[in-house]
Formats: sequence, C-alpha cells, structure tokens
Amino acid sequence: MSQSKNKSKNNKQTAVEPTNGAGLGANNQKLDDLAPNVEDSAGEFLSTNQGIRVNDNQNSLKAGDRGPTLIEDFIFREKMTHFDHERIPERVVHARGTAAHGYFQVYESMAEYTRAHFLQDPSLQTPVFVRFSTVVGSRGSTDLARDVRGFAVKFYTQEGNYDLVGNNIPVFFIQDATKFPDLIHAAKPEPHNEIPQAATAHDTFWDFISLMPESMHMIMWAMSDRAIPRSLRMMEGFGVHTFRFINARGKARFVKFHWKPLLGLHQVVWDEAQKISGKDPDFHRRDLWEAIENGDFPEWELGVQIVEEKDEHSFPFDLLDATKIIPEELVPVRRIGRLTLNRNVENFFAETEQVAFHTGNIVPGIDFTNDPLLQGRLFSYLDTQLLRLGGPNFHEIPINRPVAPVHNNQRDGFMRQTINRGQTSYDPNSLRGGCPFQAGVDFSGFASYAEKIDAQKVRQRSASFFDHFSQATLFYRSQTAAEQNHIVRALTFELGKVETPPIRERMLGLLAQVDTDLANRVATRLGLSVPKKLEKPMNMSVPADADPRKFQPKRNGEELEPSSALRMVDNPNFPLKTIKTRKIAFLVGDGFDEDSVMDMKMALMKAGAVAMTVAPRLGVLTGVGGETLNADFNFLTGASVLFDAVYVPDGAASVAALQAGPEAANFLREAYQHCKTIAAHGAGVQLLENAGLGETVADAGLIAGHDGDARMLAENFIVGIALHRHWEREVML
Ligand code: HEM
Repeated sequence: MSQSKNKSKNNKQTAVEPTNGAGLGANNQKLDDLAPNVEDSAGEFLSTNQGIRVNDNQNSLKAGDRGPTLIEDFIFREKMTHFDHERIPERVVHARGTAAHGYFQVYESMAEYTRAHFLQDPSLQTPVFVRFSTVVGSRGSTDLARDVRGFAVKFYTQEGNYDLVGNNIPVFFIQDATKFPDLIHAAKPEPHNEIPQAATAHDTFWDFISLMPESMHMIMWAMSDRAIPRSLRMMEGFGVHTFRFINARGKARFVKFHWKPLLGLHQVVWDEAQKISGKDPDFHRRDLWEAIENGDFPEWELGVQIVEEKDEHSFPFDLLDATKIIPEELVPVRRIGRLTLNRNVENFFAETEQVAFHTGNIVPGIDFTNDPLLQGRLFSYLDTQLLRLGGPNFHEIPINRPVAPVHNNQRDGFMRQTINRGQTSYDPNSLRGGCPFQAGVDFSGFASYAEKIDAQKVRQRSASFFDHFSQATLFYRSQTAAEQNHIVRALTFELGKVETPPIRERMLGLLAQVDTDLANRVATRLGLSVPKKLEKPMNMSVPADADPRKFQPKRNGEELEPSSALRMVDNPNFPLKTIKTRKIAFLVGDGFDEDSVMDMKMALMKAGAVAMTVAPRLGVLTGVGGETLNADFNFLTGASVLFDAVYVPDGAASVAALQAGPEAANFLREAYQHCKTIAAHGAGVQLLENAGLGETVADAGLIAGHDGDARMLAENFIVGIALHRHWEREVML
C-alpha cells in the first residue's frame, strides 16, 4: 500500500505528499460495529418509537376539528415528549467541536518501547474517532475564536479503547489540576452578564492570568497564530503531559506524544479570523467535512519523544510540569505512524456529541506519570461524563463502546443496554467457575507500572516547577518577525479590551519577564509604560501561611537557543510546500476570457487546489467566446477571507463588470492586507491597479501576467500560494 511506502522513520518529515487514502481503512472494525445502530428511513413507513405505523403526522387527535387536543393522543405525546428532552448538557469545556472517523497505522513495530498491541504490527489498521474542538466557547460559538484547539483521538484497539486527549498547543496554563475550575471560570463569559462569548479578551481572564505567572509560556502560544489555525487539517497536536511507555520486559521510559500534519502548519490572521466568524462561523467544521467528502483525507504522523528513566532529572525543567516542552533540539521527535481521517459521521449528535474521551482510557504498554495536571484530569473526565451523558452506562453508547469484548460484574443503572446472562455479578464466585477471570499480563491484563514512591503527604509544588519564564522567552524568541508582531497585536487586542488598568499593568510586568521588547511594544500600543518593578511578592500558588518570598520564580540555567520547531513560518519540520485543498477565488463577470479561466483552473486543479467563481451576481456567466460558467458565489456570499488566494482572469468586459461596483476592488485589497497571493491576467491586471495594487509593487505574492497563456502565469501563482502568506507585507507594530 502506498501508505506504508511513504513512511518516514527519521525525526524529520520526509517530503511526502499526503496520500489519498481512498480504499484504505475499508476493514474498519469500528464502522462494522456501528452499523447495526445506523437507521435509514429511505423507502420506509413512518412509525412511533414502538413501531406502530403512523397514518397522520399532520394533525393531533381532537374532540372535533375545532376542539381541544385529547390526552389520549399517544402519537402526539410521544413525539412531543421526545422533542422536549432532546437536549443534553454541552461539555463544560471544549463544547464546540467536530469529529471524523479514520484509522491509525504504525510504521514499524515499537515493541522495544511499548507492548501496546496497536503499536506492534505495521499491517494493522486501528480504527480511530477524532474530535477537534475549541475550549472556551459554547456549542454554537464560532470556529475562529482565538483559542486552544482540542485534538482528542480515540483508538479502538484490540486491547480496549485508548484515548489520547490532546491539544494543538504542547503546554498548558496551569501546573496543578485544582486550578482548572478557576482558569475556566475566569476564561468563560463573565457571570454577571455572560459576555463575551468564545473570547478571552476580557477582565476576568486577564485578571487571573496576571496573577498566575506559571501561565506565561502558554500565553505566548495562545497569543500566537497557533490559536487561529487556517484549518484543523493544518495544525499540530500534542499529548501535553509526559506519559510512560512500558515494554514487554517491564522496562519503562518517558514519552511525549505529537501529531504532525502532512499538509503543514498554517494560520489565518486575526483580522481575517474575526471576519470569518461573521461570514462563516462553521469555517473549520465545513473545511474538515468537505475535505473528507472530496476524498482529500487529512493525515497526521504520530511522533514520540522518548526519554530514558535515568535522564528524568537531566533537563533544566521538570518532565512532570505541563507548562514545559521538551525542545526538539534536546530530544528529537521520532515519527512512528500515520493517522488518516477518511469518513464523516453519520449523525453529529450520536457520534460527535456523545463521544466521551478520557485520559484514563489507556491500554497495556502505556501508563501515566505523576504530572499533577494529568492526575486531576484522570478524575475529571469520567466524573463530568456521568452527568453529561446521564449515568454510568455511557460506555455502551455505540460511539464509545470498544471493539474489544467487555465482561465484568458491573450491572444496571440508567439506560443499561447489555443483557448480562447468568446468576453471578460478583467476584470471586464459584457458581460461574470464577468467570469473568482476571487476565494475566501475558493475556493483555493491564498492570500499573510499579513506580517507587516514598514521600510525605503534602500540598506543595516541587521547586523544579518554579521556572515560569525561560520557555516563554524561548517561544517568543523562536518566532519570525511577523509572528512576533502577531503576538504583539494579539496581546494589544486582548489587553486593550481589559477595562481595569491595574490588570493591564500587572500583565506588562509579566511580559517584561518574557522579553522587554515585547512588553515595550505592547505597552506603547496600550498607552502605558512597563512597570519598573515586578509586583512582589509574585503569586506563586502557595498555601496561605507560606512565606511567599521563599517561592519566587527562578530562571533555570542558561537561556535556551531559539528553536525553529516552535514557529509556524519556515518550520523545518514541514518542508513540503503544497497547495492541495487550498481554495482559490476567481473574480469573474460576463465577458471573461475562456482560455484565461480554464488554463488557470486546470493548472490549479492539477496541483490539488479548488477554484471557485466569485461574480457580481449568481447564475450562469457567459464568456467572450460564448462559453458559460456557473458563479459559485456573489460578493455577498463569497468574501475574500474565505479563500486562500485570488485570481482575476483576462476579459475586458468581465473586468468592466467587476469594476462597476466597489466589491471586487475591496475583495482584492482585503486579500492583499491578509498577505495572500493574488494573480491577474491580461485585462485583469487593470483591476489590480484600480484597487491600488499596481504591478509596480515589488511583492512575490502579487503576480501580473500581461502576455502569454495563463498556464505560464499559473506556475508563479502556485509557488506563491504554496508559501501560504507573504509576511513581508506585515505592518509592524
Ligand atoms: C486539570 C486540567 C484539566 C481538566 C480538569 C480538564 C477537564 C475537562 C473536561 C471536564 C472536559 C469535558 C469532557 C466531556 O464532557 O466529555 C474536557 C474536555 C477536553 N479536554 Fe480537558 N481538562 C484539563 C486539561 C486539559 C489539557 C491539558 C488538555 C490537553 C492536553 C485537555 C484536552 C481536552 C480535550 C481535547 C477535551 C475535549 C474532548 C472531546 O473532544 O470531547 N484538557 N476537559
């Protein structure tokens, strides 16, 4: 299969084109498992939930045609009662999300490191269900919020379900799970007026953050373009915590998990994100859905950073601290397998909404560490799902049930589906010969890693957790100039929305600990100056009666070298420049030049991009030679922010039609401002000039072709689009 041929064994991505996984994953055991639960009404009679065929679904039963409805109407009552109970609570966090089915395949056996069955055999395809989400917004909020994206993967392995419940940012805001409710209360809409929705740009969030120096590394990531991805298909994923791999001999090693997207890392700009939120709040959901429907199956490689147990204390940070990464320069990421999403859900509620991920769902060969954030998560997920999904039997919901057999003595509860045969529901028993048996380790029985613990029971953080700034500085200094500028802009936006001056000032004090230039740039835009002295004592999350002076932040050791793996632009881990699945707007009116449209369209399609027509009106457009073209959008339905690049084909009448109103010029100016590639051919160049974007502008992303055919122009256009954005246009703050 082409998939295993394309494997990359080293720590760098090979320049493999993403495979089109068509035909792969056909033997998906989870999809077979779901099949009996799939209902299809095609060609069927309407019935009640009891299977009674319904003769009249238009009128309730009444005493006379103008009389009151009768309580006897069991059909009406059943229908209305079900409707009245349709809603379940949304997730307390990560409420907004979208999901798809797929499969995972390891490149080569990882037996040296782990006995996990799904990581042994390169020919084995393990079914997966993956849900992406934002954290803060409600279920109906916009996809383009500035936020962390959840990246939760459920592997339906032969040894039971394994959930890797990660994010698209490799660190977290807090170090100890007990601060999670505080963090989320601060980030969610403020409780008195429930404003703002799906946004952290408000007082309570920054009040909390300004008092939590441990959040500073995460804040750098959250204010970067990582928090506004172009597509869910174009972002990394991370397990965040350090976990353990354990091999068949019982040897344990530390492991961090990464997902590397084969389409590369790409972002939108903040102004664009805000506009997309209005034009198409389902932008990410739609993008994922359409890519899968079109057979452009998104793919990620699973990467691992493995650390020997003896090296646990050899880093200038603590492996158990979820506010720290292991820089890839210190421990390379080895790519060990590939995830492919190749099927959309049948039903959003049944699958995407009812799926329940849990960090505690692990399989033999993988285990936890004492990361205090992970430890708290191990409690939280099952606990919240008991309420969200209405009782202890949600593991029986089709999307949640494993493909591995389930046998135990757990019984009853609301909505129990399983019909447990037999007299016994306890262990030990003799009446059933002791069944179900405990499984020995050789029979895939899970045995927790026997970590040695010898300690006092304390409410305390390890001093090794107190370096809150080194990695924040590392992240900021690892960004390109344009990306640093985006962080400055994001902080200026967010803190600019804060109404309480001391919060802004406290934040400037913390930013100065990260990078003085960053703090000064933000301060200038806020009309403030950076406080000379840091607030002392800084809140270090210590008990009420501790002496705070003993717990001040320390920078551990020398400054870390900038890491190119942390940036999105020119990140050497993503050398492949592809325009696959990118959406290109063709601005066209009646009288377009057919060759100019078709030549460019063919060249883009060959490169895997999607060309769409935006015209002054919907309907059929007629070219100069009489050929026709359907308009996909007019200027009200098709804004420039919904496309990756713009092309204006030749055709004097077409260009005249586009120039009749201001929309086409605005479209081009906005695309230019968002640093997108723009190409124009023949008379189309006139439109660029009219928009103030004449060819005199020396800009690699602005391509004018006066002569020759559009195919020649296309080569440069494709190179420009593959660069994603032309950051040299960035206006520095
Ligand atoms: C102590 C810290 C944390 C707590 C207590 C916590 C708790 C929760 C809860 C209660 C949910 C809703 C689950 C549901 O209703 O099914 C959730 C969802 C989620 N959390 Fe966390 N979380 C924490 C930290 C993290 C971190 C560090 C990550 C990333 C590594 C993360 C990733 C996710 C994801 C991806 C989801 C959405 C799962 C889905 O798609 O259904 N969380 N979390």
